[in-house]
Amino acid sequence: MLYAQFTGRCADRPIVDRNGKDRNLQFDVIVIGAGAAGLMCAATAGQRGRKVLLLDHAAKLAEKIRISGGGRCNFTNLYAKFDCYLSDNPHFCRSALAQYTPQDFIAMVERHGIAYHEKKLGQLFCDDGSERIIAMLDEECRQAGVERRMETTISQVARVESGYALQTSMGELRAESLVVATGGLSIPQIGATPFGYQLAEQFGLPLTPLTPALVPLTFHVEDADTFSPLAGVSLDVEARAGKGKFRENVLFTHKGVSGPAILQISSYWQPGMELTLNLLPDADAEAWLEERAGSEQLISNALGEFHWPKRFAEAWLDREGFNKRLKDLGLKQRKQLAESLHRWRVKPNGTQGYKKAEVTLGGVSTKALSSKTMMAADVPGLFFIGEVVDVTGWLGGYNFQWAWSSGYVAGMNC
Ligand code: FDA
Repeated sequence: MLYAQFTGRCADRPIVDRNGKDRNLQFDVIVIGAGAAGLMCAATAGQRGRKVLLLDHAAKLAEKIRISGGGRCNFTNLYAKFDCYLSDNPHFCRSALAQYTPQDFIAMVERHGIAYHEKKLGQLFCDDGSERIIAMLDEECRQAGVERRMETTISQVARVESGYALQTSMGELRAESLVVATGGLSIPQIGATPFGYQLAEQFGLPLTPLTPALVPLTFHVEDADTFSPLAGVSLDVEARAGKGKFRENVLFTHKGVSGPAILQISSYWQPGMELTLNLLPDADAEAWLEERAGSEQLISNALGEFHWPKRFAEAWLDREGFNKRLKDLGLKQRKQLAESLHRWRVKPNGTQGYKKAEVTLGGVSTKALSSKTMMAADVPGLFFIGEVVDVTGWLGGYNFQWAWSSGYVAGMNC
């Protein structure tokens, strides 16, 4: 006799009948991936009266939500709009973001009595833990009658007359619509897999190149040797790479650089590119040096005015060849130092990879999807949502907003 093994709160009805005879169970919608986008989609479809099954191979629900925002989940950004996202088609996300806005998600958070605050730059965090957001989405699914199965492996997906047939560790399951919400490749240790990308390829959908993003950058050995003793030092900078420009903090690490400015810029950085940091973003370094020309003061001490830790100032000036007194600089050197202070160029040799990345840049090409429904244009009933799609947000709640918006849109159309 075969009984469904249910885990989690919202799966309270058996999927397989008690005789174990009817293993080809038919749903209206199967959502693969019980993360941010999958939960939102399942709840939305269930609320429309669709018979929904939410599947995940992991034992725990929505682990990425749990670990997000330092455990407090930066669940949206008040200023989320299309130009805060990277994609081959930057306009693709417009429709979903308009159909389900940050205000819509905030209304749900408030309906569930979850306290939150704005940390900075429109970033909204839970006052308590991220579990509140998971419990909220779980409750929305429960109220919508969504069935959920964790620890379920999917070995095969095929198109059949009635929609899709899935071979799983709990037998064959069928649905009219199939929604793929399996996320990206970051943090494989908590369940990330390339499943969504492989499924897209199986159905002939193109992918854009995949790379780790919102990720610390690493330095070549010489730079790493210079700066690793400064691990922990943080400075307010303006970071630039490619078309990206962010004013935030940089954090020196044992391997290179991290901190919000670097995580943001990493999405624009490509191997071989230089990273340019304006180390005095609010000052006019040339005028500042001019005013102090002839001073006996060490430049490393003078930079303390900008809250530079002395050990950082000394190491950086050493590397640039300016660890001297102000009076030792001629006009040409003052100009050179000012240039270095405003446009310090360093060439990272890579990133810390998917183990440390918050997201995957690239994914299922938006060319193959409808921006209004998230359905594959040439494969009726097949939807892709969330991070598996080639839409990647900035740091600061944008990626969850994309998960909610794309999940909602698919949920309304699947
Ligand atoms: P998500 O990864 O949430 O869910 C995918 C689900 O699919 C998982 O449950 C997984 O187990 C399941 N799955 C994968 N392969 C499968 C398979 N083969 N079979 C069945 N199931 C499978 N964003 C933000 O906006 N604010 C923030 O504060 C943070 N903080 C943050 C911190 C850290 C450390 C990370 C790594 C990431 C963030 N993010 C973030 C990014 C955010 O977590 C991410 O963009 C969303 O979770 C993406 O939602 P998805 O639902 O697309 O994937």
